[in-house]
Amino acid sequence: MCGIIGYVGGREAVPILIKGLEHLEYRGYDSAGIACLSPDCSGFFVCKEQGKIGELKARLNGVPTQANSGIGHTRWATHGAPSKTNAHPHLGQNGRVAVVHNGIIENYAELKSELKRKGCCFKSDTDTEVAAHLIESYYHGDLGGAMRRAAARIQGFFAFVAMAKAEPNRVCALKRSNPLVVGVGKGENFVASDVSALLPYTNKVMYLEDDEFVELTRECVNVSRLKDGKPVRKQIATVSWKAEEASKGDFPHFMLKEIFEQPAVLRRTLQTYVKKTGGIAFDTLDRKVKDHVKRTGKIFVVSCGTAYHAGLVGRYLFEAYARVPTEAHVSSEFRYSDPIISKNDTAVFITQSGETADTLAALREAKRKGARTLAIVNVAGSTIAREADAVVYTLAGPEIGVASTKAYLGQLLTLALFALYVGGLRKRLSQSAIRGFTREASKLPDKVREILGTSESVDSAAGALFTKGNFLFLGRGYNFPNALEGALKLKEISYAHAHGYAAGEMKHGPIALIDETQPVVCLVPKGTKTYTKMLSNMEEILARRGIIISIATKGDRAVQRLSRHVFWIPDTLEIFSPILTAVPLQLFAYKIATLNHRDVDQPRNLAKSVTVE
Ligand code: G6P
Repeated sequence: MCGIIGYVGGREAVPILIKGLEHLEYRGYDSAGIACLSPDCSGFFVCKEQGKIGELKARLNGVPTQANSGIGHTRWATHGAPSKTNAHPHLGQNGRVAVVHNGIIENYAELKSELKRKGCCFKSDTDTEVAAHLIESYYHGDLGGAMRRAAARIQGFFAFVAMAKAEPNRVCALKRSNPLVVGVGKGENFVASDVSALLPYTNKVMYLEDDEFVELTRECVNVSRLKDGKPVRKQIATVSWKAEEASKGDFPHFMLKEIFEQPAVLRRTLQTYVKKTGGIAFDTLDRKVKDHVKRTGKIFVVSCGTAYHAGLVGRYLFEAYARVPTEAHVSSEFRYSDPIISKNDTAVFITQSGETADTLAALREAKRKGARTLAIVNVAGSTIAREADAVVYTLAGPEIGVASTKAYLGQLLTLALFALYVGGLRKRLSQSAIRGFTREASKLPDKVREILGTSESVDSAAGALFTKGNFLFLGRGYNFPNALEGALKLKEISYAHAHGYAAGEMKHGPIALIDETQPVVCLVPKGTKTYTKMLSNMEEILARRGIIISIATKGDRAVQRLSRHVFWIPDTLEIFSPILTAVPLQLFAYKIATLNHRDVDQPRNLAKSVTVE
């Protein structure tokens, strides 16, 4: 989704804006642009291009701007096709104001007609240009005042950053629903959609809340309430992520680097939530939250995309180990389904970014209905982390690849530990049973490392199958969500059609697809309740000459006999098996996508952080 950066300081602004945009690339975009002002107030220097930031850089090459302030944007098209004209920044009628925007202006058509009647000529098809004209129409020497008046007229959700030609040392921003973070520097200040764009310059940040306005100059950051200008005192937070964590290092893609970081993510998660004694502790949860979870009548797990698949695993975990009736929902469906929630219930929201619009709206709906809310979030300080009653962090570090990998494994392990912990609180599990689970969990980082070190079978299967356009993924129980996840990974980065299914349901439809050309990926780790049932399903596929690719426990001859390709994983307990079966699925999708020369880190049409509904 759109990415925003704003800068004011003593340095040359253009390279800072470009680097900031490069750090926002992962959000997904189709065009990019910057506008900056030089101290002589001669007017905005604007440069925009469709396509990658590389195109924008090529156009800027050698152009002297001497600007010390500016705004930049990566656009993910909503209103108007991806094009140079529709790219941001947009200028007001007389070029006195420049604006970048993330979000949607719902009443843009009405505002556009009004502005046209007043003589504004529109160059683009975007809703953002409406905001540029509107702010400029209210501008009489005070950008902040003009932005406040414009915001009062705009319906929808937005983050705006703007500059005025007559005020070159001032960048102003405001937000409602969409994220904005201020970066506090020395003699310079920044504002951006997320912290990754700020990390190269500062780790001191301020998270803006809805309906807050910020004015940045070289020396000052002033935050105030949007509606009446009343000053707001903000805390400065220190971000623990390092800029290097958000770089590819020697890996060809972020996705591959992040897949290989998974042992470290699991280790960090264990170090944080498992005590030396083998017990489990979630220290960020206060007594009130613990008491609530202990007595809770029902758990709702709500999330989107890959996080939804973690939520499905979570549902099995909470029911099996905490014995709490649990429902898993997709956020966009949950919020419109008028869910029956009582004060006694707990709503758990799983999200990597902490900014997904549907998950945020679902959280607000659950709060409105009185549920206690708990967020399992990767990005500290994100909107969902701030708004939930309680937070448990996944410790994946910055995830840049659009296809979620290490955040997913972090979510799976955190959920497993949390479900066991709740089981302990509710006296459904003894502490010695919990210690048995954590003993096995402590071996998971090495087991994932082992899978990563023996991926030749994935390479050869991908080499044989990468031209196929249709894949079926089957699993049962804890590994059914991973059948969905394996299919999602493959389709999002390779663009091959892939469908995940509960293996037991195969005979009710998908079996019609099976012939000698159909690859079927079967998740069949040993020691699960449904292992023999999976074997029967595989026999049914083989009887129809389907191509079986299986993910199986090392040394499992029965599976090997039925399969064309096998990806071996080490043995583990059933509840941790999705953590291991996910890894070959990620590698398989990655390999097929690269063999098809896909843009693995930024697949077409997708966004990392989906901040529109
Ligand atoms: C997008 C991303 C997915 C992610 C989903 C939910 O679709 O491309 O990788 O799983 O959003 O994002 P969240 O940040 O809420 O986990």
